[in-house]
Amino acid sequence: MSVAPHASTDPRAATTGDPLQLIDVDHVRFYVGNAKQAAYFYAHCFGFQVEQVCDLTTGSREEASYLLTQGNIRLLLTTGLGRNHPAQEEVKKYGDGVKDIALNVHDAVKAYERAIKNGAESAYEPTEHTDEHGTVVTAGIKTYGRAVHSFVSRSGGYALTTLKQGGQFMPRFRKVEAFALNDYNRQHPCGLKFVDHCVGNVELGKMNHWVAWYENVLEFKLFKHFDDKDISTEYSALMSKVMASGNHLIKMPINEPAAGKKKSQIEEYLDWHDQTPGVQHLALRTDDELHSVAELRRRGVDFLEIPETYYDLVWKRVEGEMGASVKEDHKRVKDLGILVDADEDGYLLQLFTKPLQDRPTLFFEIICRRGSQSFGKGNFKALFEALELEQEKRGNL
Ligand SMILES: [Fe+2]
Repeated sequence: MSVAPHASTDPRAATTGDPLQLIDVDHVRFYVGNAKQAAYFYAHCFGFQVEQVCDLTTGSREEASYLLTQGNIRLLLTTGLGRNHPAQEEVKKYGDGVKDIALNVHDAVKAYERAIKNGAESAYEPTEHTDEHGTVVTAGIKTYGRAVHSFVSRSGGYALTTLKQGGQFMPRFRKVEAFALNDYNRQHPCGLKFVDHCVGNVELGKMNHWVAWYENVLEFKLFKHFDDKDISTEYSALMSKVMASGNHLIKMPINEPAAGKKKSQIEEYLDWHDQTPGVQHLALRTDDELHSVAELRRRGVDFLEIPETYYDLVWKRVEGEMGASVKEDHKRVKDLGILVDADEDGYLLQLFTKPLQDRPTLFFEIICRRGSQSFGKGNFKALFEALELEQEKRGNL
């Protein structure tokens, strides 16, 4: 049913005649208020390597960016250095969060032109970044709200395969030398491997608009669909459709609020995100949920608290009704507060962090798939009840 999303280590394997054939998630760019400090947070709590930096010391006069890496995940934390930099304006409106889900393609110019022809609005024109080592070409289109998809193509010393082995990200970046936290993280890995999916929240009534956009512009297909009967509690509900690229390399679920007695988590997000759609969560894949969650908890990551009562029913639902055989120690799953769900293909373990900044906007999901290709539908109700308790504490329910 699925193709391993991280299978395409050789970019040539994916370069068919289709310019929108996505090779990989090149990087996810965050706009943040203070990239230097944010880098420390993500390194300390989530075990990322603070690998490269681009700032005044490398001749970047407008912005500072830090490249954080772990497995095949590349986060780029960018802050503006002057008041006219767009990152400053966006941080003012939305707080820290995801600006760009950048997609690695064979030819960024061709992918951009095809997307524009398919109806995309340009975020920025193709730009070539070249030096003696090689070339990186980027071009961007606007998706929901303030978010952008950059197309990135790389050659010479900047090829993706080289980058994955620690090569330079692009011109004007330099390696971070002698950072103690990097050594510590190498010795105490969190085990995060790649971006499994990336979820967007859009306004009421706009889900199908953006589903059509991903179908038309990026030539994605509908992968899964959940309605408010699947995802509701007494108080709040949402609807969700999962869009996937042709090779299932990247999955982009899109949520919209549905009518409930009280404010849904999507509405809360929009209220604190200037009523603007945006990325709600990044799901980061691990091969060992117990290890990753234990290590992240030890480092101080704040996870959603799962009600005790969840574990009264979970094994009956997952192993009894769904017939899965969960190999992870059941007591440890409960002690670590991890969620479990199953579908016809297998099971999955997942857990959600609390918001990663003071605004209740972006969070991470830590997910481990044992065959299951779904998104934890069976957990939605239990999870939403837990989320509502948090919303209530913030006075936002
Ligand atoms: Fe998710």
